[in-house]
Amino acid sequence: MDIQLIDSSPEQTEADAIVVGLCQDETLVGAAAAGAAAAVDKAAGGLIGRLVERKEISAKLGDVQMLFSPAGVAAGIVAVVGLGPRENFDRRAAFESCGAAAKKLATKQRGRVAYFVADGWTAEQVEAGVCGLHVGCEGQDLYRAEKRLHVPTEVCWAGKDRVAAFQGQVIGEAMNLTRRLVNEPPGDMYPETFANRAADVAFECGMHGEIWDRERLEAERCGALLAVARGSSRAPRMIILRHEGASRNDPTLALVGKGVTFDSGGLSLKPSDGMLTMKCDMAGAATVIGAMQAIARLGLPVNVIALCGLVENMVSGRSYKLGDVLRARNGKTIEVHNTDAEGRLVLADVLSVAVDRGAANIVDLATLTGACVVGLGLDVAGVMTNDEAWGARVRAAADTCGELNWPLPMFEHFNDQIKSDVADIKNVGEGRWGGAITAAKFLEEFVGETPWAHIDIAGPAFRDKPKPYCDAGASGQFVRTLVELARRWK
Ligand code: BES
Ligand code: MN
Ligand code: ZN
Repeated sequence: MDIQLIDSSPEQTEADAIVVGLCQDETLVGAAAAGAAAAVDKAAGGLIGRLVERKEISAKLGDVQMLFSPAGVAAGIVAVVGLGPRENFDRRAAFESCGAAAKKLATKQRGRVAYFVADGWTAEQVEAGVCGLHVGCEGQDLYRAEKRLHVPTEVCWAGKDRVAAFQGQVIGEAMNLTRRLVNEPPGDMYPETFANRAADVAFECGMHGEIWDRERLEAERCGALLAVARGSSRAPRMIILRHEGASRNDPTLALVGKGVTFDSGGLSLKPSDGMLTMKCDMAGAATVIGAMQAIARLGLPVNVIALCGLVENMVSGRSYKLGDVLRARNGKTIEVHNTDAEGRLVLADVLSVAVDRGAANIVDLATLTGACVVGLGLDVAGVMTNDEAWGARVRAAADTCGELNWPLPMFEHFNDQIKSDVADIKNVGEGRWGGAITAAKFLEEFVGETPWAHIDIAGPAFRDKPKPYCDAGASGQFVRTLVELARRWK
């Protein structure tokens, strides 16, 4: 779906639907009236104003009201989307309002849809809006014969900011790539197939890459990752992609992703309820691959390396066991107390490769702990770091994109939790308190002195319920944060 820029007036634009935005307290008539909503209102004889008066149309952020065949307007449908209070309008509001309009219109197959929302928007807001409309019209029903959401055949955007619109499209498509990788079921999406898809992305975008198979992982002594993989009949993979946008001497940013294509819990088996959505446990890796696609397509002038560990955590006669002692790639020994704390074992080896590849800074993304969801809820990611300055930079990138996140403390005493009597460390803490932090403390053992930040996306990566601006299932959250971080990287 390529977006086309137009500069026709909204009421005269031939389209199946036009979208106009409405701020709270926006004036539709008189000298102060400006913008697309006012123009359409005037052409339609004051229709929008009357409906606002009767509270049939609301300007609340993300509310959408569709008007069918209004007189005086060339388009068949006018969708009025609420933009919320003007003073609060930001990238997040742009993303959500356009996403909500796109999702509402996508309930039927449409031809041409034209957006007249961006009066007075900044370039960043245009980018976020175009990104949001791409995400809003794609659903999770990949395997349904009758789709619930339909991508329109043509999308137009009223405005002049061609670059911002293009960038929004690139990032929206990257989020949808991430969402698709996560939404595909575990029978189809396993380490080998995920790695093949990553290789396709690398090829299409001209990125360098390597894929490590089991033999290579053995040669590299990835004993922690391989232990998790052992219970599965699907062989593991490590994916390494490089975007070389700057010179060799410039520092490299490493993006690391947890890619557990299905987490049964292993011998510490999950109950059915907790296992149902565990195809989402590769969302960290999918977020990294989506972000790399966007970083490469945008041609960002920076060096970025992506590393993802892909395994399936399964039950069989070969499964790793409680009490096993594993030797990670960096030489540390790990006593296994719970096979459901598998993500940190996978990441342990991937992080050590990131360090060995000379990453200047690392950020990892992982659906790592239920504890993080208990602490912060479904919509907020936890951020933990060994370097406050780097953690603040990562959080600032997320904040400008409107991707909700909050820091969790890495106090020294949490290290006591992962002490072991038989090995260097153990893979879970005593009891369940502070579980998100214990997991981060475990990861910290594998990054050496490299500034590193860990984003636990167990809450926001996957939704059981839809949002007005995005279907249920994979959210694609934190693709934008990683792209923003790469833009600010130097
Ligand atoms: N993949 C899960 C965490 C998770 C939970 C992701 C809910 C998404 C939604 C992870 O591998 C896991 O099982 N963590 C355990 C850790 C525990 C055994 C210390 C958990 O959170 O219960
Ligand atoms: Mn688990
Ligand atoms: Zn897991």
